[in-house]
Amino acid sequence: MATPTVNINAPAHVKHAKLLAWVQDMANLTQPAHVHWCDGSQAEYDTLCDQMVASGTMKRLNPAKRANSFLACSDPSDVARVEDRTFICSDAKEDAGPTNNWMDPGDMRATLNPLFAGSMAGRTLYVVPFSMGPLGSPIAHIGIELSDSAYVAVNMRLMTRMGKAVLDVLGTDGEFVPCMHTVGAPLQAGQADVPWPCNPTTKYIVHFPKTREIWSYGSGYGGNALLGKKCFALRIASTMGQAQGWLAEHMLILGVTNPQGKKYHVAAAFPSACGKTNFAMLIPPAGFEGWSVTTIGDDIAWIKPDAQGRLRAINPEAGYFGVAPGTNMQTNPNCMKSLDRDTIFTNVALTDDGDVWWEGMGPAPEHAIDWQGKDWTPAIAAETGAKAAHPNARFTVAATNNPALDPAWDDPQGVAIDAFIFGGRRSTTVPLVTEARNWTEGVYMAATMGSETTAAAFGAQGVVRRDPFAMLPFAGYNMSDYFQHWLNMGETLGKTGATLPKIFTTNWFRKGDDGKFVWPGFGENMRVLKWMIDRIEGQANGVEHMAGVTPSYGDLNWNGLDFSSQQFDAVTSIDNQAWRDELDLHQELFDKLAHHLPKALLDTKAAWTAKL
Ligand code: GTP
Ligand code: SPV
Ligand code: MN
Repeated sequence: MATPTVNINAPAHVKHAKLLAWVQDMANLTQPAHVHWCDGSQAEYDTLCDQMVASGTMKRLNPAKRANSFLACSDPSDVARVEDRTFICSDAKEDAGPTNNWMDPGDMRATLNPLFAGSMAGRTLYVVPFSMGPLGSPIAHIGIELSDSAYVAVNMRLMTRMGKAVLDVLGTDGEFVPCMHTVGAPLQAGQADVPWPCNPTTKYIVHFPKTREIWSYGSGYGGNALLGKKCFALRIASTMGQAQGWLAEHMLILGVTNPQGKKYHVAAAFPSACGKTNFAMLIPPAGFEGWSVTTIGDDIAWIKPDAQGRLRAINPEAGYFGVAPGTNMQTNPNCMKSLDRDTIFTNVALTDDGDVWWEGMGPAPEHAIDWQGKDWTPAIAAETGAKAAHPNARFTVAATNNPALDPAWDDPQGVAIDAFIFGGRRSTTVPLVTEARNWTEGVYMAATMGSETTAAAFGAQGVVRRDPFAMLPFAGYNMSDYFQHWLNMGETLGKTGATLPKIFTTNWFRKGDDGKFVWPGFGENMRVLKWMIDRIEGQANGVEHMAGVTPSYGDLNWNGLDFSSQQFDAVTSIDNQAWRDELDLHQELFDKLAHHLPKALLDTKAAWTAKL
């Protein structure tokens, strides 16, 4: 039976034939009740939020506590990224590589088509035009997300440059990445909706790198549904970067200015829920008077060489979708201030006075409604272990709310990167900080990074897995080819005579015998950041060991912090047996990635092994 043609309601100003034809095709496929083209205005945002409050998807928070802010609570089956349901559908399986799920593109289309057919029945299809990067900038790229979720539409307005201006830039024939999204919960005539529609059993997060398309089915949460973020800005963009000579990375970008007014820029890759937002908003502690840190981005960096061969980075996003639990006025004051107003909270607890609360925010309320809508009290928590907020509860807020926002955060030229940092979450073995002796060794360190898994992805938590470049869930192509791309970038830039960024690894998470973190972390990470800058200037010492260069106790500034050399030893010591075991795990990774694995990495491993 032919499906009825849907009226797509295109505004008169839209003259892009390919876009119109695609929206028409997709509307005919998914059969929404209405089509709404998002203009990105405040009025539209307010209307959609009001509608979601009326329908029960969101609650408006007490305006006296958090102006213009909302709480959404998801279905308990839909709380994080679903890595086992994420696919890279390149033509050849080897091009997705052993770390990605792969399906033949034709087979995947045959799977998705029947799922998307009629999937938006009874719902509104939102046409969400967005730019990743400053509007109209030569380094920005445009996407159009078609979604049947109003929650997605309003989140995209905070997270990207979204709306009519994007269509104006697109003109009649501009290029865009088509991003299809449905929650996978069609409504039959007369069927009542639920607060968080999703498909509890079937989820697909699918990328077609050759045609640069994204198809997401069944989830309304975070990176599964806000398709500009992980799907476009990392998985699809990494394949564009490979083809075009640039990098799309899971990195924060910060500016750090010393008391003399000299400014440096650092990009740091830590796996999900391992401290990027915190580091990007760091406030220098006592003992660092005159230093300042400003935020360019907290999750994703697009990095391109300029005419002089310097790597320049932009943040393709315009907002933060950050982890709430653990965020408080001590750990991240700039973040807390960003959340005072205009914020969408997801899966945190609602207090009796209409505010939000999460574990690690501060004193617990006497009573709250937890993220699953149940009564929560400290006594219930003590008895049952019930969490008021889901461990992957998040906030969505525009970057412009951040008091530490860097003046250049929106600069289409980006900022010149002086150092890269790669940091995992490791309770043992890996020192607080290590400097790579050269680019290749830095690539080796990033490629072999391990980290304990977190609540940011569905599945087991706290197990060490290799997370190369913090990109394991986000590389849109073969991981060994990705390593080679990094090596090639170093070689090409090296030939221009430009100074390559220094590469460091960090680990804020070593634990003592008592099971507690030894390093105080958060603002105190400034001590490590300053050492890196001193190293760039050739003004600090370090001790060379098998895996690079690590400072000794006297090489860091300890003004304002009581941290003994014994404690320092506990976070920096090299245990030879632990490193032998670690190198065996590197070898396991290399065995898995044998196809196209750069020989330079095996050579580095041999050099390290020889020193043990
Ligand atoms: P994604 O948004 O998932 O990519 O994560 P992110 O890397 O931005 O994570 P975020 O900064 O939100 O950190 C998440 C968790 O790490 C929180 O529970 C923080 O409390 C904890 N954390 C961040 N920085 C530090 C640190 O320096 N030391 C310790 N011990 N914990 C930290
Ligand atoms: C991450 O998991 O690394 C995130 C959150 O930044 S999400 O956008 O949901 O992927
Ligand atoms: Mn992330």
